[in-house]
Amino acid sequence: MKPMIVAPSLLSADFSKLDLQIKCVEDGGAEFLHFDIMDGHFVENISFGAPILKSVHNIHKMVNDVHLMISDPIKYIPVFAKAGADIITVHYECFSSDEEIYQAIDLIHSLKKKAGLCIKPKTPVESILKFLPSLELVLVMTVEPGFGGQEFMDDMLPKILALRNYIDFNGLKTLIEVDGGINIDTAKKAAEFGADVLVAGSYIFGHPDTEFRVEMLRSLA
Ligand code: DX5
Ligand code: ZN
Repeated sequence: MKPMIVAPSLLSADFSKLDLQIKCVEDGGAEFLHFDIMDGHFVENISFGAPILKSVHNIHKMVNDVHLMISDPIKYIPVFAKAGADIITVHYECFSSDEEIYQAIDLIHSLKKKAGLCIKPKTPVESILKFLPSLELVLVMTVEPGFGGQEFMDDMLPKILALRNYIDFNGLKTLIEVDGGINIDTAKKAAEFGADVLVAGSYIFGHPDTEFRVEMLRSLA
């Protein structure tokens, strides 16, 4: 059985020693590194921008998984692509039409990056099924976006299962990523319902056994 893909969220890392924190999660077997970009407008919080990604994107071998929680993603997709993103995920809720969403996906692909689409807890999963054939990743928020350390929302589990069934029935390769409140217990649930990638911030960082925690999440497939 393939191990789970673990995507440690840098939002919860100690920024005074980012290189050591990144090495630690890579040693634990993390395959993705999750960058939570927040503009203080689409979400309440402000996190960090492209300079951080530019500084660390090539000091490791993990996939640079960039989650744009910003109001004007189309404007910034080229900026994060240039700064070293491998996957660029945008939020369904910041577009006003399907055409705009396809425009964002096409722009990401034109820059030779992988495209992801994310839905907040209140957005029905049916809203994004049509985009799946164009996406390498779909991101299900299991907390309200904006902050780490929140409780996992169990009522998001049926969304994961609906995506798993749709992707498998249609023979798609889109990865299902789950983000928010992931710990060893909620990770088991997400994996059971069909998740491929687990984003975890506060469960992984801020503890003496960071590397072991990554290994534990990987083993949950
Ligand atoms: C929330 C971010 C999540 C968050 C995860 O808006 O998208 O990636 O940092 O943090 P935890 O794992 O602590 O919920
Ligand atoms: Zn995130």
